[in-house]
Amino acid sequence: MSIKPLIILPDPLLRQVSKPVERVDSDLRKLADDMLETMYDAPGIGLAAIQVGEPLRVLVIDLAKEGEPPAPHVFINPEILESSDQRSVYEEGCLSIPDYYAEVERPAAVRVKYLDRDGKLQEIDAEGLMATCLQHEIDHLNGVLFIDHISKLKRDMVVRKFKKLAKEKAPGKMVG
Ligand code: NI
Repeated sequence: MSIKPLIILPDPLLRQVSKPVERVDSDLRKLADDMLETMYDAPGIGLAAIQVGEPLRVLVIDLAKEGEPPAPHVFINPEILESSDQRSVYEEGCLSIPDYYAEVERPAAVRVKYLDRDGKLQEIDAEGLMATCLQHEIDHLNGVLFIDHISKLKRDMVVRKFKKLAKEKAPGKMVG
């Protein structure tokens, strides 16, 4: 397993729509393992493949709390089948938009079908944090970020800030 570099806003890759996985093989399982290691290292609770530069419909989630044994989940080609009318609000963050958090309202529960790490078709009825996390990560597969769900004013401010940071880090510029 290896830790991969994370792609950060405003990298245009984050706006790319990821392609479905055609075959769940050892290469794909290695990608999922690398994603889990990268996510644990960050640390975060969810990660989409595009965030490590792979435009494939793969995401990993682990909602285990500190002190609990790890509970890694791999979702391949996930698809939302149903969303509840009831909505809930969570303060979300994203490993590709470090140190920025905002409240996002989404359906409180979703039914998702996906392939697991063995390529077996599965369905999950998710609610609470799992429902929010799945929707946040599935958004990534469609080039959508959580800041797309907040006001344009706030979003423009965040994007401006990250564009400025990226410029400051650009090669050829000395950063002490
Ligand atoms: Ni994210």
